[in-house]
Amino acid sequence: MTPLRGLIQAMFHGMEGEASMVGSDMTGHMCMLYLLARHWSFGEVVELGVGRGFSTLPLLAGAVEAGQGLVSYDINPQTEKMAVQNLRLKEHHPMRGAWRFRLKGAAPGAQDFADGSVSLWFLDTSHILEETRKELEAWLPKIHPDGVMCGHDYFLHEDPEWKDLSGVKKAVDEFAAAHPDRFHLQTLRHDRGLFILWPRTFWDAAPWSGSI
Ligand SMILES: C[S@@+](CC[C@H](N)C(=O)[O-])C[C@H]1O[C@@H](n2cnc3c(N)ncnc32)[C@H](O)[C@@H]1O
Repeated sequence: MTPLRGLIQAMFHGMEGEASMVGSDMTGHMCMLYLLARHWSFGEVVELGVGRGFSTLPLLAGAVEAGQGLVSYDINPQTEKMAVQNLRLKEHHPMRGAWRFRLKGAAPGAQDFADGSVSLWFLDTSHILEETRKELEAWLPKIHPDGVMCGHDYFLHEDPEWKDLSGVKKAVDEFAAAHPDRFHLQTLRHDRGLFILWPRTFWDAAPWSGSI
């Protein structure tokens, strides 16, 4: 079995019945994250917010298949262990060496990277408005001109429990409005939403735009 198939087996065997994860809506976004990591890993691939590692799986798998690695940040030291357990990423697992976990806040983590070095950036941290704003702004200089910024829970505020707590949509909308020449904002509505900030270099050159 290839390392990637082993990871998929480990993750999906951990789910009850239908492929769903209690307390997470990441299953529906895994294919998209995998595709993005597979094709946007010409630079660094960064994950902010590891949790139980559900987004780590497709990001790591896609990056590794493209010959790259994944750098993940979380402020909770337990998350590294949880992700390793959920993915059954044993010490000598072929994909373990391609994963770097950093116990650090998402915004300060930006200082670890050279300007323009990140080709894919994924956000799933506190969802708090002020923090989300800081995270987006802190990382912007680090994103490659052709890089993608994306993240989970764009529609989390529609959940009554998160109504007054989640500022993801507001922060991302403000950010996209502030950088209209750099990004085109697209959202996938299902599973609490995935936002994708496509680089204009890609979006405006797409065949359907009529520009090529
Ligand atoms: C919703 S969970 C992430 C779920 C994960 N993406 C998955 O698919 O399993 C949010 C995570 O963000 C982390 N977090 C919260 N605030 C953070 C911050 N400022 N910097 C880094 N991580 C943070 C939490 O510790 C938690 O593990």
